[in-house]
Amino acid sequence: MLKQKNLIFIGAPGAGKGTISGILLAKYPFAHISTGDILRDEIKRDTQLGREASVLMKAGKLVPDEVVAGMVRARLAQPDCQKGFILDGFPRTIHQADLLGEALRELNNPLDRVIYFKVDDELLLQRLTARQNCRKCGEIYNKLFMPSKVEGVCDKCGGELFQRPDDSLETAKSRLEVFYKQTQPLIDYYEKQGLLLTVTETDKDKIVAALEQELA
Ligand code: AP5
Repeated sequence: MLKQKNLIFIGAPGAGKGTISGILLAKYPFAHISTGDILRDEIKRDTQLGREASVLMKAGKLVPDEVVAGMVRARLAQPDCQKGFILDGFPRTIHQADLLGEALRELNNPLDRVIYFKVDDELLLQRLTARQNCRKCGEIYNKLFMPSKVEGVCDKCGGELFQRPDDSLETAKSRLEVFYKQTQPLIDYYEKQGLLLTVTETDKDKIVAALEQELA
C-alpha cells in the first residue's frame, strides 16, 4: 500500500515509466504529469507549441527547458497535485531539475523519492520498436511483450492501436543518446540529495510490488 507520495520517474525511453505509472494510477489517487503526453496533446490540438514541439520530438530531441518547466509548474499548482504526484519524463536536464526544485519550494510540496528505472539498451530498443499505443485512451501495449488480445485493437476501449512516430529504430537510438547525454547526470544530482531509488528489475508486477514495499 502506497501512502501519498511525490515521485519522479526517470529512465531512458522505453524504460517503463508510462507502464508503471499506469498500473499505480489504477490503484492510487496520484496526479500523473507526463510531459510527453502533454506535448502530444498540444500536437493533436495543432497549437503553436505543438507544431514547434512536433519537429523536435520527431527528431528525438528535447523541447526547450523553459517551455516544459512552465507547463509542469502550471500543472503542479493544480489542487490534485497536493494529494501526491508522479512526474513521468520530467525533469530531463539539470536545468529542468533546478526549475522544478524552485517550483516545489514555492508550492511547499517537496519531493519524496526519485525512481530510476535502469534497463539495458538492447531491451529498450526492442521495447520501443514494438510499442503500440491506443489512439483513444492512451493504453500502452507491446507486440512482443504485452500484446493486445486482438491485433491492432485496444483491450480496454476498442480504440485503434498505432506506433508513435518517434519509435522508429533510428529515432529511438537518437533518443537514447539524448538520454545518456542530458538526463543521465540527474541520477547523480538526486543521489546526492538522498532521494534516488534505482530499480533494475524488469518484470512489471515485481517492480510494482517492490515500489509498494519501498515506498510504504
Ligand atoms: P516521452 O513521451 O516522455 O517519452 P520517453 O521518455 O522517451 O519515454 P517513453 O514514453 O518512450 O517510454 P516509457 O519509459 O514511458 O516506456 P513505456 O512504459 O511506454 O517523451 C517524448 C518526447 O517528448 C521526448 O523525446 C522529447 O522530445 C519530448 N519531451 C518529453 N518530456 C520532455 C522534457 N522533460 N524536456 C524536454 N523534452 C521533453 O514502455 C515502453 C514499451 O515497453 C511499451 O510497449 C511497454 O508495453 C513495454 N514495457 C514497459 N515495461 C515493460 C515490462 N516491465 N515488461 C515488458 N514490457 C514492458
